[in-house]
Amino acid sequence: MESFNIFKGYDKVKPSEDPNSLPNQPKTIPKKRRKIIAITLTIVLTLIIGSFVGAVIYESVTEPPESEELASNSVESLKTVCAVTRYPNSCFSSISSLNKPLTANPLNFFNLSLQATVRELSNLNSLPKELISKSNDKPTESALKDCISLFDEALNRLNRSFELMKVGPGEKVLTEMKISDIQTWISAAMTDQDTCLEGIGEMRSTVPNEFKVKVQKSQECMSNSLAILNNIQSLFDKFGLAMP
Ligand SMILES: *[C@@H]1O[C@H](CO)[C@@H](O)[C@H](O)[C@H]1NC(C)=O
Ligand SMILES: *[C@@H]1O[C@H](CO)[C@@H](O)[C@H](O)[C@H]1NC(C)=O
Repeated sequence: MESFNIFKGYDKVKPSEDPNSLPNQPKTIPKKRRKIIAITLTIVLTLIIGSFVGAVIYESVTEPPESEELASNSVESLKTVCAVTRYPNSCFSSISSLNKPLTANPLNFFNLSLQATVRELSNLNSLPKELISKSNDKPTESALKDCISLFDEALNRLNRSFELMKVGPGEKVLTEMKISDIQTWISAAMTDQDTCLEGIGEMRSTVPNEFKVKVQKSQECMSNSLAILNNIQSLFDKFGLAMP
């Protein structure tokens, strides 16, 4: 069994093992064995270099898992989250303009989207009051007053959504029940905005377009928040994270 002797080539050959060797003669490895060692070395080196080159190629060709990429790039992760919404551009700009740290976590993005919605709504608050003070048309004033109380109501509903996400230690942030409740609050807030828009829609000439555009913008924010929430499980899957 010649092959068993291959690796012995690296050791000293004991004189007793080599019948050709004479005492005090420089040690030589038999020709046949030398050939086998050379072939073996070639094969081993080829395998080592081959697997090294292979690993390098593998490294450069295969992309990191999507979840890893999302975790390391907050802009990409925000884009991924906003891609589930109907108004991805307004989702992206409203959340990034909050200037809050973007943690690559769908719950964080949902929270930020809700905060952006609250901000839009808060920005809206003073406008109907201003318009009322300038108006001398009773039906318009009445429609604007309705909007003021509808905005208040919508803000309250959004506040309740934040409350629902507050948890004590060991409690789950997002249970199915909570998700469903928050969906209800946001949907109801959207209905409030719709009602305001319908009211002022009838006052075409007397309510400036700017106001309608702003109400619509807050509507978009709510719609985006709702879409993120509706897709929260699949987003967590995409990010390779467990639902908190
Ligand atoms: C949502 O954001 C608010 C305000 O930054 C924060 O207090 C709250 O802890 C956040 N909630 C979750 C569930 O991340
Ligand atoms: C919502 O909560 C914020 C603080 O968390 C508060 O400042 C605001 O007045 C609340 N809005 C309503 C309509 O309750």
